[in-house]
Amino acid sequence: MSLLLKNVLAIDGQIDLHEVLDIRIKDDLIAEVGKGLSEDGCEVRDLSGCIATPGFVDIHVHLREPGYEYKEDIESGTRAAAHGGMVAVCSMPNTNPVTDSASVIEFILRRSREAGHCRVLPSGACTKGLKGEILAEMGDMARHGAVAFTDDGRGVQDASMMRRVMEYASQFDCPVMSHCQDESLVGAGQINEGKVSTLLGLAGWPAQGEEIQISRDIELCRLTGCQYHVQHVTTARGMELIRQAKANGLPVTCEVTPHHLFLDETDIDDSYNTFLKVNPPLRSKEDASALIDAVVDGTVDALVTDHAPHADFEKDLEFEEAPFGMTGIETSLALYITNLIKPGVITWERLVELLAINPRKILHQPPVMLKPGYPADITITDPDIVWTVTKEEFESKSCNSGFIGCELTGRARDVYVGGIATLLDGAVTELGKGVDA
Ligand code: DOR
Repeated sequence: MSLLLKNVLAIDGQIDLHEVLDIRIKDDLIAEVGKGLSEDGCEVRDLSGCIATPGFVDIHVHLREPGYEYKEDIESGTRAAAHGGMVAVCSMPNTNPVTDSASVIEFILRRSREAGHCRVLPSGACTKGLKGEILAEMGDMARHGAVAFTDDGRGVQDASMMRRVMEYASQFDCPVMSHCQDESLVGAGQINEGKVSTLLGLAGWPAQGEEIQISRDIELCRLTGCQYHVQHVTTARGMELIRQAKANGLPVTCEVTPHHLFLDETDIDDSYNTFLKVNPPLRSKEDASALIDAVVDGTVDALVTDHAPHADFEKDLEFEEAPFGMTGIETSLALYITNLIKPGVITWERLVELLAINPRKILHQPPVMLKPGYPADITITDPDIVWTVTKEEFESKSCNSGFIGCELTGRARDVYVGGIATLLDGAVTELGKGVDA
């Protein structure tokens, strides 16, 4: 028995596809794509008004397992990912124990096979314990399934250590993904350094704290030839450095998050909403607008969430005491549709590039196309549904989103991973649990 997705607007710039047609899924593969396909012997889903694209991938997600299961675990984090329209996520290594050895990589992959609602591509730490002092067991991790290396949550402070990280990662054909942050400049910074930090009496965090490391790492990339990816870029100048590096032909890519695109420091006010406390911080309006320009002009390679769940009791503290981070994986697609697609800032083709094509390229994953013979990893989006973000909506264990109360347009309706429905009519399926087995 095969499944027929009927009357869906299929969009995939890789094969110049943009038309309403039918997609037949047989087992784990796309079997046929065309107009008026026969319904004989098929389960049929009429998806008129919906959009089918290669499945979306978020390459910056904190799943928190092992160690912080009270915030999130692999089951709940991937459940949230499916709810947000993702077929795969790249997990970050700031777990407990830190994902700095093959045994933790194996644990994450095993838990994902048992309980995951999407594919999980684990990243490993660059340095042991994320301390920046001793190289992590990068080769062993790569052999056991790590797809990239990052000390996310921190920057590698020492330039010679970063050089070694890049040299090792190149040997294993893995990208280094970097959270750029010079701790000597950032110090105890709470929010972007500027008028808002002064008005609110919060310690400031200068843009240069990020830009200096981007600049250093671009030079180390020139030295080592390593594939280098800048995580959650937040400043206009940082983006300009990346634009120049790309123009120079360096193997540099970058990502931005919805919160750095669609929020800015002026959203933080004297209510001291700790959900808006993120690392790196929300920057100026001008910075946010420069990031959108970079999404439009092709400088940005991937849209990611940095989904960073924290429990209520942790966020319900004084601003200085609360941890950095906001959740995002269940609102990102709707935020892109609402703020980028609907106003005509970017096309669906560009969104597919940012959410499906480039993320796989960055992590050296095989491409997914809406074409016979390719894996049936497909996101079906209802682009017109209007909904309001509430805490009750979330599948994540945590609800520290900066977008609660926002009215958004568009959201994932169905998601298929290897032909298995992980999301149907907006509801996460139990059938999809362990989909990556
Ligand atoms: O805001 C953030 N939270 N930024 C990070 O880089 C880490 C993350 C977390 O783990 O909570």
